[in-house]
Amino acid sequence: MPLLEGKGVTRYFGGLAAVQHVDFYVDPGEIVGLIGPNGAGKTTLFNLISGALVPQSGTIRLKGENITGLKPHVICHKGIARTFQLVRVFPNMSVLENVLMGVLFGKPDGYDRKQARKDAEKWLDFVGLSAVKDWPARSLTLVNQKRLEVARALATGPELLLLDELMAGLNPTEVAQTMELVCRIREQGITIFMVEHVMKAIMGICDRIMVLHHGEKIAEGTPQEIANNRTVIEVYLGE
Ligand SMILES: Nc1ncnc2c1ncn2[C@@H]1O[C@H](COP(=O)(O)OP(=O)(O)O)[C@@H](O)[C@H]1O
Ligand SMILES: [Mg+2]
Repeated sequence: MPLLEGKGVTRYFGGLAAVQHVDFYVDPGEIVGLIGPNGAGKTTLFNLISGALVPQSGTIRLKGENITGLKPHVICHKGIARTFQLVRVFPNMSVLENVLMGVLFGKPDGYDRKQARKDAEKWLDFVGLSAVKDWPARSLTLVNQKRLEVARALATGPELLLLDELMAGLNPTEVAQTMELVCRIREQGITIFMVEHVMKAIMGICDRIMVLHHGEKIAEGTPQEIANNRTVIEVYLGE
């Protein structure tokens, strides 16, 4: 059974079909890439999966359970976490406090504070931010704010992590480090569905890639198959 499965997922904004009858699946342990031109519907699809938006039709299932239209916090508790295309850390909280928010999210009231702090520190160490844990989040560079968002998402204990343009705006060294981070997340047993424009990253780490164009799925396959797909080259790669 796929970890995540969508059938006929559709979302309109007024007359515009942002996501149209899209079928997709992500198997446990996979890294799946989602690509396509700007405005293709990638972020909208992630918003539909994570519950920020409700589809007008179609079904989304997590391990066979219908999660379509559930509230974002419910979907998060069921095991889907995400990062945002435009980073959304809590700017005035410390780096550690940001990750504590992720740890405590979904834990019962009265969860042991010492244990929570340990959990948060573990994830900060995992993304390489231990040295700046007491800094206000706003003082971090872009790449570190992105790492912080990843740590906060991981701290909620997801089975599936949605990454929306994690590499955007990073320099080549940072892209390489982030690719390595994504692979280490998968080694933790967490499945990854990622939107990315950085082709080197997508081609280098994804097991499978899905392509959206004007809200419709136009191709799906291995990185090699996608790189050689005529339609994909015409509408996206050839740009
Ligand atoms: N909240 C919204 N209200 C109206 N239109 C939206 C909204 N969100 C996205 N859109 C439109 O839906 C289409 C897909 O957007 P988006 O999912 O952000 O694309 P991508 O992430 O692939 O660049 C675009 O035409 C965009 O303008
Ligand atoms: Mg987007």
